Amino acid sequence: MAKEYNVAIMGATGAVGEVMLSILEERKFPVKNLKLLASERSAGKKMKYNGRELTVELLTPDSFKGVDIVLASAGASISKQYVKNIIDARALIIDNSSAFRMDDDVPLVVPEINPEDCRRNKGIIANPNCTTIIALVPLKPIHDAARIKRLIVSSYQAASGAGAKGMAELEQQARDWAAGKPIKAEKFAYQLLFNVIPHIDVFYEDGYTKEEMKVVNETRKIFHEPGMRITATTVRVPVLRAHSESINIETEKKLTANEVRELLAGAPGVTVEDDFHNKKYPMPLFASGKDNCFVGRIREDFSIDNGLNIWVAGDQIRKGAALNAVQIAEIVAKEGLK
Ligand code: A2P
Repeated sequence: MAKEYNVAIMGATGAVGEVMLSILEERKFPVKNLKLLASERSAGKKMKYNGRELTVELLTPDSFKGVDIVLASAGASISKQYVKNIIDARALIIDNSSAFRMDDDVPLVVPEINPEDCRRNKGIIANPNCTTIIALVPLKPIHDAARIKRLIVSSYQAASGAGAKGMAELEQQARDWAAGKPIKAEKFAYQLLFNVIPHIDVFYEDGYTKEEMKVVNETRKIFHEPGMRITATTVRVPVLRAHSESINIETEKKLTANEVRELLAGAPGVTVEDDFHNKKYPMPLFASGKDNCFVGRIREDFSIDNGLNIWVAGDQIRKGAALNAVQIAEIVAKEGLK
């Protein structure tokens, strides 16, 4: 019989954690026992898995005894706080936070791109930032065919990137607006409803945000291209749960728009939606709840020799986080890495 794993979800009650639970079930991951971990706010809460009711447990340093794989999505500070306990318990952590992504001995993996990097893990595999994942799934075939020299990424990121509380805040702002009540902003710097906010994560002194530099540095690491020229502007938009991105690409070799459509049509994790005559292009409303990254508005950029523009939309909670993490767990299981 195939090996079964004792799995824990750290942050099981969060926007990503809840979806990790349902994706484990959907994809029939070989789970022996499942532990749901959260803070005292949610301990005791019931959640459903495969028709069974599981009780959320309080996360403590002793939570990982007998656990094989920890899917972590409780934020970077919680991951840092518990990583030693996880490794001491000989469990593998697949971490959705930014805590270890850029550490040299931590593989940063998008299964469609660099699954082999999982093999050099020392107990931690990092799940990339959602905007990075959604951009890179369709960029991989383009890079393989024509070698990307430069990327300009502009993101339109959903409220879900700020977790369950981010989505709840946007919905509350809509209700308050409709009721004529004053609108409150706590999770975001300003009212998000009817607005766009060019500010995600903290600012560095040079004016870039941490989110923007995650896209730059994580892309280079995943592609193993430390010198790739990349610049990003990341923006929060009043969308609930799928991110969109406008990506300008400069390649070494010329690719026509048709060649890109053909390359992407057969690419894993990608759906091409590109037929402007029939108003077909990706939109976050329709990418929500789906696994693939949707690509459209594929055009040659006439302002440079070998340039392309693409528009991508992908579910931030699924492929941008929970699905990618479960796919990493599948590689771990398939390759016997645990
Ligand atoms: P809780 O429900 O107890 O707050 P999101 O990213 O959607 O905000 O979710 C964060 C997840 O991380 C939730 O499951 C949350 O649990 C969990 N979490 C946050 N802080 C802690 C903590 N100090 N200990 C354990 N779990 C935590």
